[in-house]
Amino acid sequence: MRIIAISNNKGGVGKTTSTVNIAAALNILEKKVLVIDLDHQAQTTYHFGFNPTDIKKSIYNVLMDEAGYEDIIIDRNGLHILPAHTDLKNIEFMPIPAKEFLLSEALEKVSGYDFILIDCPPSLGVLTLNAMAFSKEIIVPLQAQFLPFHGMYNLFEAVQMVRKRLNKGIDVTGIIGTMYNASKSINREVIEETKKRLPEKLFETMIRENVALQEAPSWGKTIFEYSPNSNGAVDYMNLTHEIVLKK
Ligand SMILES: Nc1ncnc2c1ncn2[C@@H]1O[C@H](COP(=O)(O)OP(=O)(O)OP(=O)(O)O)[C@@H](O)[C@H]1O
Ligand SMILES: [Mg+2]
Repeated sequence: MRIIAISNNKGGVGKTTSTVNIAAALNILEKKVLVIDLDHQAQTTYHFGFNPTDIKKSIYNVLMDEAGYEDIIIDRNGLHILPAHTDLKNIEFMPIPAKEFLLSEALEKVSGYDFILIDCPPSLGVLTLNAMAFSKEIIVPLQAQFLPFHGMYNLFEAVQMVRKRLNKGIDVTGIIGTMYNASKSINREVIEETKKRLPEKLFETMIRENVALQEAPSWGKTIFEYSPNSNGAVDYMNLTHEIVLKK
């Protein structure tokens, strides 16, 4: 079972878009997939077409030991989702000892999946640490622009810290170049620089800038449902093949 946190402390770099569409591609490839929405913004939950305000119990209740993870699973055409709720942000302020291990403990007995993907919030707070304590791998979406590139270095430092103090077994499997536009020199430069500095980490497939990827969430659809012939669908399927082969 591969447990992967999709993480970057920078906001708006394509974490949620990648989580949803990699999960959907894996589902099409007949892998058993569980997606955990660990962001209080609940964007993954929305993207899959569910309104968090209509959901009685979320991953928040699982972390608080008020529900089992099996009780909150949404089955979406065989793809399983643990939805988020805005309540999640309260965990940050709760005086709970060893708060980084709530997710690992709640999902201790999870089995039967080929992949578990976790959409993380855009910070290195307690929810991201929970994801990292439980995961074996991290995949980092990188928007090929100057600022996100610097943010990524903070993330790599955080991963070192996590390896030392929380989870010795975790490593960065790969970096996804997102919202790529080959006609923009900044995009090309950042990708070239990433290849130079972290040669074995960058996935070959770039996720190109694609309007359909932007539109799909408001219809509650994955890119394969919304626009199966779009560049977004082609890119996320190619990327998913790479991820499957990576380990
Ligand atoms: N390849 C792409 N082409 C065009 N737009 C994209 C692409 N990928 C993502 N987007 C859009 O960019 C915005 C940010 O993407 P997304 O929500 O996936 O990022 P995020 O890292 O999850 O953000 P946050 O940090 O807020 O959780 C969204 O509006 C999304 O639709
Ligand atoms: Mg997000």
